[in-house]
Amino acid sequence: MKPAMKLGVLISGRGSNMVSLAEACGRPDFPAELAVVVSNVPGAGGLGRAAGMGIATAVVDHRDYDDRASFERALIEVLRQHEVEAVALAGFMRIVTGIFLSAFPGRVLNIHPSLLPAFPGGHAHRDALAHGVKVSGCTVHLVTEEMDAGPIVVQAAVPVAEGDTEESLAARVLEQEHRIYPEAVRLLAEGRLRVQGRRVQIQE
Ligand code: GRF
Repeated sequence: MKPAMKLGVLISGRGSNMVSLAEACGRPDFPAELAVVVSNVPGAGGLGRAAGMGIATAVVDHRDYDDRASFERALIEVLRQHEVEAVALAGFMRIVTGIFLSAFPGRVLNIHPSLLPAFPGGHAHRDALAHGVKVSGCTVHLVTEEMDAGPIVVQAAVPVAEGDTEESLAARVLEQEHRIYPEAVRLLAEGRLRVQGRRVQIQE
């Protein structure tokens, strides 16, 4: 068997997607291991959850750096210390630039709580409800310099119910996030993603 791909997860908050990735990585047949969880927010809830699962954690607080470039170089350094080969952004509330992406080319994933390209940005559920869509969902995509715009790896649809609020819709979408993020990481770790322009082909 190939050695497991070392995954780094970047968070800013409660880290429920990080936990779903950590649980997947803990399964014997999963082709990735969670090497480190890094937060840019010192008190992020996800840090305690990761530590409680025996996973290495680190804080790289963006406020300690003069600019985005030096913040990203510090992030890269921590990830390199843990020999990270691929990165999953999981509720990481900072834009990443080419400096970060070129350290892990084609190997940075993000999860977004809508069916992209609909409703990018920080208020996906609010925007989806305001627009009156009947189906929303979630997307795992490869990260590019344009926010929420990279090639799509996996999506799941979630019907909008009458009377849904941001919270009730978010809760049902989150269940699907926890299912598709590990699936996307598995495909990346198995080397089964072929990117052709915007399209990601999944090899059998
Ligand atoms: C998720 O809805 C994710 O799609 C979005 O931010 C939220 C993070 O939640 N990018 P959690 O920290 O993983 O619980």
